[in-house]
Amino acid sequence: MLKTRMTEMFGVERPIMLAGMNWITEPKLVSAVCNAGGLGILAVARCTPRETRDNIRQIRDMTDKPFGINQILVGPGAKENIEVAIEEKVPVINYSLGKPWFVNDVHAYGGKVLGTIAISRHASKAVELGCDALVITGHEAAAHGAAATSMVLIPIVASMVNVPLIAAGGFYDGRGLAAALALGADGVSMGSRFMLVQESMVHENFKRLCLEATEQDTLYDNVFDGMDGRVLKTKEAVAMTKRGFPLAESIKGALLVKRVLNMSWGKFVKMSFEMMRAEEGHPLLVLARQAVGNMKHMKAIMEGDVEKGILFAGQCCGGIKDIPTTRELMDRIMIEADEAIDRLNAMRS
Ligand SMILES: Cc1cc2nc3c(=O)[nH]c(=O)nc-3n(C[C@H](O)[C@H](O)[C@H](O)COP(=O)(O)O)c2cc1C
Repeated sequence: MLKTRMTEMFGVERPIMLAGMNWITEPKLVSAVCNAGGLGILAVARCTPRETRDNIRQIRDMTDKPFGINQILVGPGAKENIEVAIEEKVPVINYSLGKPWFVNDVHAYGGKVLGTIAISRHASKAVELGCDALVITGHEAAAHGAAATSMVLIPIVASMVNVPLIAAGGFYDGRGLAAALALGADGVSMGSRFMLVQESMVHENFKRLCLEATEQDTLYDNVFDGMDGRVLKTKEAVAMTKRGFPLAESIKGALLVKRVLNMSWGKFVKMSFEMMRAEEGHPLLVLARQAVGNMKHMKAIMEGDVEKGILFAGQCCGGIKDIPTTRELMDRIMIEADEAIDRLNAMRS
């Protein structure tokens, strides 16, 4: 047993979190992690408000343990999904990109707000805004880490703020968990590792590619969805880095966003200006590029299209060698972390 500020605050047995991953962290995987003693997070960026509510209720049918939702705050649908999560009194609201306007509403029912940051200066700001705990994302991570690695960022943030910290980016085993605790974190959040468990819906073709990958087989660039992010090195990902700025695809993506959201031209233009004013400025073109990235991402995880698909994946894929059940994985990580801590203790003379 490891008791940390994370296990205490969130009422979980193990200091392990399932990172919110759009499309991938659906109720089956979320509840599997919760039932194995961790904190499962449902990513809802892909969901309509009704789907968000359905998914939350499905999780409650499968587990009575605490869980959370993850929402990217910039972009359409965020406000509505957060409102649903608050109505449903979801125990943990985890957000990334943007400012949380809902902290008091979550605290009112006893919920916790978990901010995600990748830059140290954003950590103190998130705590000032009322976040109860933070996820710190290092450069190694799948998707949107910034320039600093976990090794550098965790101790810096740990010295700045006094709230529970969950380390994300590069963690996939018990040695990593022990290292994160040593650096000042209170637990780890894992994305890539949980893509490769039995309960994950990722297509077998991509699970196989991740297993075969070395730590060198990812690419970090802003061409994939308009923000700096890391994907598995596939044919399409390599081609995207060579093609540069995808103007035609972005325009197609922008029109797709407008159509899917059934927006008038007036609303479309207004939203683009609002996004440009947001602190993390998401001009419409970025939203359009996210739409393009999302389509290619779905091709990967749902259709298993290794030619045209792209998959967000972290450097730690290089260390992942099997596809266990969620419970097997989490049992193993706890044993490995104990062994690592014992090994360090034994070094004391
Ligand atoms: C396929 C995929 C989708 C992701 N989607 C989201 C998302 O919707 N919201 C978010 O905050 N982070 C998202 N992330 C980032 C993860 O939450 C997490 O920070 C990252 O996977 C941690 O790095 P690791 O893969 O090395 O464990 C995604 C990651 C992956 C692999």
